[in-house]
Amino acid sequence: MSELKKLTGDIISRLKSAKRIAALTGAGVSAESGAPTFRGEEGLWNNYRAEDLATPEAFERDPALVWRWYDWRRNLIAPLKPNPGHNALAMFEKMFENFTLVTQNVDGLHRVAGSENPVEMHGNIWLTRCLRDGTVKENRETPLKEIPPRCSDCGAMVRPHIVWFGESLDPAVISRAFKAAQGAEVFFVIGTSGVVQPAASLAGLAKNNGATVIEINLEPTPLSYQVDATLLGPSGRILPEIVSVIKG
Ligand code: OAD
Repeated sequence: MSELKKLTGDIISRLKSAKRIAALTGAGVSAESGAPTFRGEEGLWNNYRAEDLATPEAFERDPALVWRWYDWRRNLIAPLKPNPGHNALAMFEKMFENFTLVTQNVDGLHRVAGSENPVEMHGNIWLTRCLRDGTVKENRETPLKEIPPRCSDCGAMVRPHIVWFGESLDPAVISRAFKAAQGAEVFFVIGTSGVVQPAASLAGLAKNNGATVIEINLEPTPLSYQVDATLLGPSGRILPEIVSVIKG
């Protein structure tokens, strides 16, 4: 049975008529491109300790170690291509009058697929931030020639422009994400385990403000009980099917 049979007639007509749609994505959306997720058997946090690599304290203790890990991840991500799930979400931007894509992913693959202005809640692995004055710059060098890398303007050390555990999100970014969830008529939550805040609260926020919430994941998550439908399967297969339903 196609998972899309779980979408009732009401949900489908809402999807077809909605003007304001938003989606939250997580690592699962990039899994079919070859990017490792964070949790689960093969997940990064199963093999590495977040507190050694993704906290401000870890960076203060050993910036070279943290940068070597990010260099490894950058090398892994650099050759990856967007998959049909990324492409379908880029299409959503053209299909709906008002579509906001919010992502926890730092790999930049949504932009490569053509999504124009994704809200990158956790930053971007291709951006660095100068420790002296906070200047954010793109850096696509793989592998990095110098670890830790330095600011090309002032020579100070730079850090990955990524939100680490224990750090606050950029208020402008939170505000865009919350506004999108609050105003959405339909909200998708795709390929995320739904355990990292504040991203995980967006589905509930959308629901409390009247949105129809549709989850896409390989398995049920802690968010499943609060959504209108959970479609079980790979987002790279299910999202293109949703595009066809909306167009049909
Ligand atoms: P997780 O690794 O926690 O969860 C990935 C989710 O994707 C799981 O629920 C999987 O079942 C699901 N999944 C895997 N493959 C899929 C596929 N092909 N189609 C659909 N779903 C699939 O990743 P996130 O929820 O994104 O933070 O993790 C949230 C944050 O925790 C990340 O942004 C990262 C991490 O620490 C930072 O780096 C700051």
